[in-house]
Amino acid sequence: MKPEHNPSLKTTGFFHQIFRSIFPDPLIPKSDQERKRYLLKNLILHFRPPTVPEKTLKFSLTWGLGGMAAVLIFLQFGTGLLLKFVYVPTPLGAYKSILVLNNEVVFGQLIRNIHHWSANLLVLMVFLHMLRVFFTGAFHPPRQFTWIIGLGLFGLVLTANFTGYLLPYDQLAYWAVTVSTGMLEYVPAVGSRLQEIIRGGNEIGPATLNIFFAIHTAIVPVGLTILTAFHFWRIRKSNGLVIPRAPEEKIEEKPIRVPTLPNLLLREIVVALVLIAIVMVMSVSLDVPLGDSANPGLSPNPTKAPWYFSGPQELLLHLHPLFAVFIIPLVLAVVLMGIPYLKYDTHTEGIWFASLKGRRMALIAGLISLIATPIGILLDEYLINFLAGFNNFPAFLGNGLIPFILIFSGCIGFYILIKHRYSATNNEAVQTLFVLILVAFLILMITGIWFRGPGMKLTWPLKL
Ligand code: HEM
Repeated sequence: MKPEHNPSLKTTGFFHQIFRSIFPDPLIPKSDQERKRYLLKNLILHFRPPTVPEKTLKFSLTWGLGGMAAVLIFLQFGTGLLLKFVYVPTPLGAYKSILVLNNEVVFGQLIRNIHHWSANLLVLMVFLHMLRVFFTGAFHPPRQFTWIIGLGLFGLVLTANFTGYLLPYDQLAYWAVTVSTGMLEYVPAVGSRLQEIIRGGNEIGPATLNIFFAIHTAIVPVGLTILTAFHFWRIRKSNGLVIPRAPEEKIEEKPIRVPTLPNLLLREIVVALVLIAIVMVMSVSLDVPLGDSANPGLSPNPTKAPWYFSGPQELLLHLHPLFAVFIIPLVLAVVLMGIPYLKYDTHTEGIWFASLKGRRMALIAGLISLIATPIGILLDEYLINFLAGFNNFPAFLGNGLIPFILIFSGCIGFYILIKHRYSATNNEAVQTLFVLILVAFLILMITGIWFRGPGMKLTWPLKL
């Protein structure tokens, strides 16, 4: 069939055609048939639906967090590619190449700063995005699998950060990775073998650097590309985002829809530009430090894991390693994966904190954890550890099994209490328990980052 003539479809040249296939002509053809043909030809609309529910455009639904994570991944790919031109993945070459990058390559330090700050922001954004998805009930059917792919993405983002941490091969990198991979030893049966595989031997050395470099520059980028595409596809398949609503409001059967172009696209561009501006300001004003060259014979005191692993590292100071670095993280990972598949009794998608009661209960759980966790840390540091010195109670029981059973049954007891005493729905009860654990985890992390000094003793941060 001969295409109908329409002046707005006319293109003037190669670059104009490319430009128009990304950013469509504002004078989109009027008739339905022309419009459909036009939209089909457009690149953006191959990735985005032609229309979106108007209410999902509200910034306070998503806070732009998933989109910001995607932009940061692009920044990582771009700057990572540039860094690859200078970086040499050998123990001697790595440190030297970072020195060259910092001091001799034009904009070298800036590119490294962008890569570093956006990597750290990425962990933060993905974490906050996961919390927003959870607290708006966006993991319920049909979005269960989007949640699972999201968890896979979170794992990849952590792997990217962790493998990148070693690459400058300075003291901080060397010892942080020594400590973190050292934790693997406590995984039963396969731990030592796993540690050997990851380190490429018994100690951190050239083989480790090679393995980390390969994972960082090949496996993780490929994984991120595939899973991000899969994530976005699942979001489209689930009819877009959850529609925000007030606690008592019903789910709309036929929400009002508006064209993606320009409504969604413009908002996404604004969020991306603001984020890039923030990353640039950080990167211009804060240089990423480079310590002394790695020295396997001299460990810094304290030797800390990267900040996103300081929660488990802090737990390790209180509990037997088997529980701190294996059983508890495993239980948490299984619980996170199981969240969308638990049995719920109400539809809460789109409602922040499930209901008004859910909000109150989450607040109370947060406050309980905020008070109880530091008390627990202090008691363990100054009293329980002290008492343990007086008897020969096996560490596996005293520091491991018994506290684990106490924590686990405390969580179950708390769940039963709020379900029966306060007649909470399953959604409210699961969320309350989630907040309790979340706040405890955050406090452990903060303690590990700021309140641990030489010898990993508790200290006041200003003294550090
Ligand atoms: C690199 C990591 C990730 C990227 C780039 C990403 C990107 C996105 C984007 C752009 C959206 C749509 C809008 C928004 O919420 O901002 C979204 C939605 C969603 N994401 Fe992610 N995400 C990531 C990680 C995660 C994680 C860790 C989870 C959960 C474990 C998750 C679960 C979901 C779900 C369930 C939706 C649908 C939300 C709804 O319907 O309202 N994502 N993601």
